[in-house]
Amino acid sequence: MPVSENQLVDAALAARKNGVAPYSHFLVGAALETSDGEIFTGCNIENATYGLTVCAERVAIWKALSEGRRKFLRIAVAADTDTLTPPCGACRQIIWEFCGDIPVVLVNLKDQRATHLMKSLFPHAFDSSFLGDPRA
Ligand code: THU
Repeated sequence: MPVSENQLVDAALAARKNGVAPYSHFLVGAALETSDGEIFTGCNIENATYGLTVCAERVAIWKALSEGRRKFLRIAVAADTDTLTPPCGACRQIIWEFCGDIPVVLVNLKDQRATHLMKSLFPHAFDSSFLGDPRA
């Protein structure tokens, strides 16, 4: 069954409520749609070192990859900001590597939305195509 944008957005908004953000108090949720019509969610998870924080997008991707999923169609990102919160630079690298040029649906708590293709969020990407033949 295909996933609707509303379903994906609702999943991201629900996941946001699980955010572990005692330092920034900035809750983020993500919902990743697989090619089989499943949704894997993630929330941001902070810790006392700050630097080891993991964003909602990467948690969702790690969950899906670790459950054996490999093909992804879309990701939604939910945060409570008037200007819609986009994925950070590190997440853009990871979304590009594991999901490719997918649509990224941004949403806030007023249900304002915008969709951007990864190619526009992350132009001139470094990826495995630069690495050549690993056996060479
Ligand atoms: N954060 C995300 O989870 N995703 C984003 O797209 C932007 C930032 C988190 C990381 C940190 O826990 C908090 O938001 C503030 O940067």
